Amino acid sequence: MRSLLDLDDLDVPTIEALLSRAAEHSVEGSSGERTEKTLSGVTVSNLFFEPSTRTQLSFDLAAQRCGADVLNFNEIGSSTSKGESLQDTVQTIAAIGSDVLVVRHEEPGTQARVALWTAKSVVNAGEGTIAHPTQALLDAATLLRRFGRISGLRVGIVGDVAHSRVASSLLRLLPRLGATVFQIGPGNLMNDDTPVEALGNLDDVIGDLDVVYLLRVQRERGAEIPDDYIDRYQLNRNRVEQMKPEAVVMHPGPVNRGVEIESSILEEERSLVLDQVAAGVPVRMAVLEWVLGR
Ligand code: CP
Repeated sequence: MRSLLDLDDLDVPTIEALLSRAAEHSVEGSSGERTEKTLSGVTVSNLFFEPSTRTQLSFDLAAQRCGADVLNFNEIGSSTSKGESLQDTVQTIAAIGSDVLVVRHEEPGTQARVALWTAKSVVNAGEGTIAHPTQALLDAATLLRRFGRISGLRVGIVGDVAHSRVASSLLRLLPRLGATVFQIGPGNLMNDDTPVEALGNLDDVIGDLDVVYLLRVQRERGAEIPDDYIDRYQLNRNRVEQMKPEAVVMHPGPVNRGVEIESSILEEERSLVLDQVAAGVPVRMAVLEWVLGR
């Protein structure tokens, strides 16, 4: 049994194998082919201590598609309100019969602690501002599907990079897969713990990018937005017209329409936002199979 705590723990051939397996599941999904029940007899438990739409639902569906049983822990209404500790909650859910614990938590290091408290597989479904490995994998899968390659792509991650766990994972994953990555935004929203170049002016580079990857400003994590943020960084109609014809727009969601992006751009063919969501299920099927060695 393995865990997926961070993509830095996986070598590139393993990441490529996961993406390849996800592509097989994606073909099955779109052709209506019957998916082999590789996780029959397995129980996957989702433990989300932060809100989620995409990640929790797609882990749930991914597990079901592979034939697993699924438990969805809901903190509201649980015995945590009676003082049960996180460790006791985790060990209780493991003892009920879980084989995999899919964990989202705001506190960095929680998933690693969970992996010490139980012998079950642990999958990181979002860790504070530190990591969101399966989102980065599904983004890589989306790029592969669109461009047929990641190597050589020029990717600009725009906005609140400092508070984004998705950006944190992408800044580490995409260069390993051969992409050239830039972080773009106001200085106070850049990630200082990365060698990835930070650029302050989106207009200087937008015409050279293959991927404009937008982020939501995370006010709930204390992000302060400069008054000229929308003027300088929103992907609006004028900026889209500066993009290369084949360049794409991505966003991990949830989107704040009218802030980081002009709403109508999401409906365009170059927007891969819903393709990213769709890639979440096959990628998480591949991850669940991998942690269980199936
Ligand atoms: N991208 C992402 O993690 O979305 P959710 O918060 O809805 O899961």
